[in-house]
Amino acid sequence: MGDDTVRVKPQYLARARSERGELVLRRRPHDGAIELRVNGVFVMDTAETTSERLLASSALAACRTQPSEGLDVLVGGLGLGFTLSELLADARVARVVVAEIEPEVLRWHRDGLVAVNRPALVDPRVQIRIADVRQVLASMPGQSLDLVLLDVDNGPDFLVYDSNADLYGSSFLRTCRAVLAPGGLTAIWSASRSEPLAERMAEVFDAVQCQRIQVRPGERDEEYFLYLGRG
Ligand SMILES: C[S@@+](CC[C@H](N)C(=O)[O-])C[C@H]1O[C@@H](n2cnc3c(N)ncnc32)[C@H](O)[C@@H]1O
Repeated sequence: MGDDTVRVKPQYLARARSERGELVLRRRPHDGAIELRVNGVFVMDTAETTSERLLASSALAACRTQPSEGLDVLVGGLGLGFTLSELLADARVARVVVAEIEPEVLRWHRDGLVAVNRPALVDPRVQIRIADVRQVLASMPGQSLDLVLLDVDNGPDFLVYDSNADLYGSSFLRTCRAVLAPGGLTAIWSASRSEPLAERMAEVFDAVQCQRIQVRPGERDEEYFLYLGRG
């Protein structure tokens, strides 16, 4: 780095500590994007949200439940709210329950720190539960959901919390399947291709599809993946 390079530090918008560690919301100086970091690990930003939005739109496009309107959806992980906003843009979606484990994430939206997706939070179709997605899913009646969308980590190979590991295991996948109406889908976001996840899903769901998503966050090309399991 040359002598005349000016280093500009990110602007910290909020910090919080939970029993799982430290959460940080910060604004990048070079592009103004907002980043969410957990325990020092980049989780996502507001600049490149293609894959978070595709999690919703791809699952909606592949959903085959009947009737095809009045859809009930569970989202695991509010994050910065892009998956939720994309869901709500589809008039077929009637109800969305969002499970978010960190109360401060929801507070940051309500305080206007992540203003871009604030309308989603006040949409009458949305209910947000501050809880582990496992708890929320376990409270759902069998065959009551059209879609279960999971984006709580950077995928099975890059966990944000070690305790989330079993979300990608057979037992939790069976619970996902049990709450799906026939023709419904469970969709899982992943930063890496995961054959073990695909295999476990194939044991539980009628059909499994892996969608590759090419994105360009900043100056580098990346591939992310969506795993879709049909119930
Ligand atoms: C990658 S972000 C979600 C991004 C979201 N799809 C979006 O569009 O902004 C992951 C979110 O999941 C939450 N989370 C992590 N583990 C969780 C769990 N077990 N249950 C519910 N929420 C969880 C995190 O606090 C974080 O807000």
